[in-house]
Amino acid sequence: MLNIPFKFIKSAFHALDPEDAHSLTISALKTPFHPRFKAINDERLKVTLWDKEFPNPVGLSAGFDKNAEVIAPMLGMGFGFVETGGVTLSPQTGLPRPRIFRDKKNEAVVNRMNFPNVGAKQFKENVEKFRAKDKNNGLVGIQIAMGESQTKAEDDFKPLLEQLGDVADYMVFNVSCPNTPGLRNLEQKDIFIELASELIEHRNKTWGSDNLPLVVKFSPDQSEETQKDLAAACLELNLDGIILTNTTTTRPDHIDPNLKDRPGGLSGKPLKEKSTQAIFNYYKLTEGKIPIIGVGGISSGLDAYEKIKAGASLIQVYSALVYHGPELATQICRDLLTLLEEDGHDHIIKAVGTAH
Ligand SMILES: Cc1cc2nc3c(=O)[nH]c(=O)nc-3n(C[C@H](O)[C@H](O)[C@H](O)COP(=O)(O)O)c2cc1C
Repeated sequence: MLNIPFKFIKSAFHALDPEDAHSLTISALKTPFHPRFKAINDERLKVTLWDKEFPNPVGLSAGFDKNAEVIAPMLGMGFGFVETGGVTLSPQTGLPRPRIFRDKKNEAVVNRMNFPNVGAKQFKENVEKFRAKDKNNGLVGIQIAMGESQTKAEDDFKPLLEQLGDVADYMVFNVSCPNTPGLRNLEQKDIFIELASELIEHRNKTWGSDNLPLVVKFSPDQSEETQKDLAAACLELNLDGIILTNTTTTRPDHIDPNLKDRPGGLSGKPLKEKSTQAIFNYYKLTEGKIPIIGVGGISSGLDAYEKIKAGASLIQVYSALVYHGPELATQICRDLLTLLEEDGHDHIIKAVGTAH
């Protein structure tokens, strides 16, 4: 075990190209020397959702462990669950590099990856390897994505659902990546209803309605009208969950000028308010009946708590790991316990939606 404080390696790490830094991190995580932190094991943070017990509400967001290679090490850093993927049916290389850019001052990232990954077959072997080794059976979400040569999303999503459903604790279909041409069209009301209905039917036929929670991930850039339509559709279709949000194509005024016109999705701190607002709106529109996973710009327990109060039952992080290092999940858990105490809640679930 090698727990070098992140502040000592941060500048070396940030001198590298962001994607090289990420690859190096993944390689390091695959060795026995990766950092581990004593898990926060506290009844007040345990969340039961979809008949599963999440040891804490802090998850790793999709895109970090695209190939399901480092599930165990990430759980070992204190994450309550890991969302792997997005995975496509066939391996693909994604858009040309460079395709990840940092704005250190604003603790932001812009990416235009478009799902580089090893493809469903190798991905599944990786999850199975984890399952075979990890006797605790940590919770693993699998995000399925549309391949770059595909024009009909269901032609990818349906076989992926079949192939990977038996190794997933929940499955996410992504209709919100800004880097896949046309993908966000799937957020149009009629197109979304048709797609989600087909996937639910296919899930029911393949795995049964109770065995594989099916969750959608939305963009933070939807209009209020779209939010209203899609919230109604999710309720009507009885979808199991909503992840809010993916990255944004908007750029705040204060963003690094180099990123202002750079195509791609912006994540990290500047996304925080937008995604919290989306959580607030969806929680209200769905009357708290559909579990929400909140993600976007969380870098502290307070950020996580804001999302929980807006309506999230679980939260996820990605970009803040780049700026705050591997102790982030345990730090957020510690902070959440303090915030719960301050508000007089004896369990995290009591805080969900209290901003309403
Ligand atoms: C480099 C990078 C790759 C990403 N890849 C995916 C992906 O494959 N699928 C997905 O749904 N979101 C992906 N995301 C978005 C994150 O999962 C998350 O929704 C977003 O970054 C907001 O959270 P954050 O501000 O904590 O980073 C990616 C983000 C980054 C920075």
